[in-house]
Amino acid sequence: MSVVQHVYIETFGCQMNRSDSEHLLGLLEEIGYQPTSDIKAADLMILNTCAIRGGAEDKVYSYLGAWQKVKSKRPGTLIAVGGCVAQDTAAALVKRAPGVDIVFGTHNLHRLPELIALTKETGAAVVEVMQEPVDDLPETPVLRLNSVSAWVSIILGCNYNCTYCIVPYVRGRERSRQPQSIIQEVEKLAEAGFKDVTLLGQNVTAYGHDLEPRIHLGHLLMQLGVQDKIKRLRFITSHPRDLSTEIIDTVATTATACEYFHLPIQSGADNILRRMARGYSVDFYRRLVDEIRQRIPQAAITTDLIVGFPGETDAEFMDTVSFVEEIGFDSCNTAAYSPRPHTPASNWDQQVPAAVSSERLRYLNSVVTEVAHRRNKELVGRTAEVLVEGRSVRNPDRLTGRTRTNKVVNFPGPEQLVGSIVDVRIEAANAWALRGDLI
Ligand code: SAH
Ligand code: SF4
Ligand code: F3S
Repeated sequence: MSVVQHVYIETFGCQMNRSDSEHLLGLLEEIGYQPTSDIKAADLMILNTCAIRGGAEDKVYSYLGAWQKVKSKRPGTLIAVGGCVAQDTAAALVKRAPGVDIVFGTHNLHRLPELIALTKETGAAVVEVMQEPVDDLPETPVLRLNSVSAWVSIILGCNYNCTYCIVPYVRGRERSRQPQSIIQEVEKLAEAGFKDVTLLGQNVTAYGHDLEPRIHLGHLLMQLGVQDKIKRLRFITSHPRDLSTEIIDTVATTATACEYFHLPIQSGADNILRRMARGYSVDFYRRLVDEIRQRIPQAAITTDLIVGFPGETDAEFMDTVSFVEEIGFDSCNTAAYSPRPHTPASNWDQQVPAAVSSERLRYLNSVVTEVAHRRNKELVGRTAEVLVEGRSVRNPDRLTGRTRTNKVVNFPGPEQLVGSIVDVRIEAANAWALRGDLI
């Protein structure tokens, strides 16, 4: 009998990375590792990294520096680094962070148990990063950290080549999972008591375009909608070019498909969108939002925005600000442009000085917050259907949950309500969350 070992995992980046971490914990559980939230008790520490911006990458090395110190007090502890920085940096990562024992990439998560065995056997660092995804991805076990809401990856990779983005380089080309395998996974989740499923993909709206026969996300939503134990279905992230009328219609007609669209626009200026190679104009996006709102008036629409893209003028930046006000986004993720390796825009002239970008970011954030606050205030006095997910971390007297439109609602109530859908009267709103009382 082997003794129980403990694994501590830290995850940066998108939901896809978070979902990958749950799969890593599932794989490790099979070989006797239990998760721990106490880093000092860990026999294995995993950093699941993100490379989207320079800042995210820098954070990796500062964490590894700190972990190295923990490791020095607990000889025999292993440090493994996976995710997008590991995929990009591979062996160079061990040179830069010498305490690292294992480096694995985004295409070979399932190999972690073998890599652990290998480093234990040889006592040397192991680096295994694959340039291409394996043809037939094995179904990996999973240890889900939430008992109400689950993530299900349905398409990996991205076939776009936005000129600023490292994702296609670190995640590869698009590969859709077979619908049957997704349906089975969702049925298992329903049996296990999950109520809410978010379908994941870097470009989730391209789902099925590479399958034979070719299908689209609407087909999959329709099939998943038959499962009535799962009360809520969402999908992220949509690409404006691929969010078709058929998909919007399916959301409108599938009872469990939620009125929520995360639809990154990136910039409100056509010239910048063209240089970003996004493949749509501001007006195209505007018409898409009109279509969503005509079909689903209560829909929440959220977005991602980049400021300080190479060549962005003050006027172009102000076009982004006006567009946020015009559309009235429910929330926006904002970031200053960060030059990334393997991307054309990083070599262009006309890089915007950091001081200008950060000033633009500050101003945009103030507008984004004001607009989100305005949208949330419209809900005060109304009743919202809230799926209760647990106790609020900030205020343990309150429960926390989300509306169908993905807004966080905090309210007083008993623990037994976790996992159920309740009616909450909204009493107050800030830009990030709502507060209410049970009806
Ligand atoms: N596939 C999604 C999102 C991918 S990454 C899409 O197409 O929209 C998540 C967000 O990170 C992007 O929407 C973008 O706003 C931001 N991002 C990506 N690369 C960036 C970079 N080099 N600098 C700053 N932000 C970036
Ligand atoms: Fe990156 Fe563009 Fe692909 Fe999104 S669509 S992941 S921004 S390349
Ligand atoms: Fe980051 Fe990789 Fe996701 S770069 S945003 S963790 S796909």
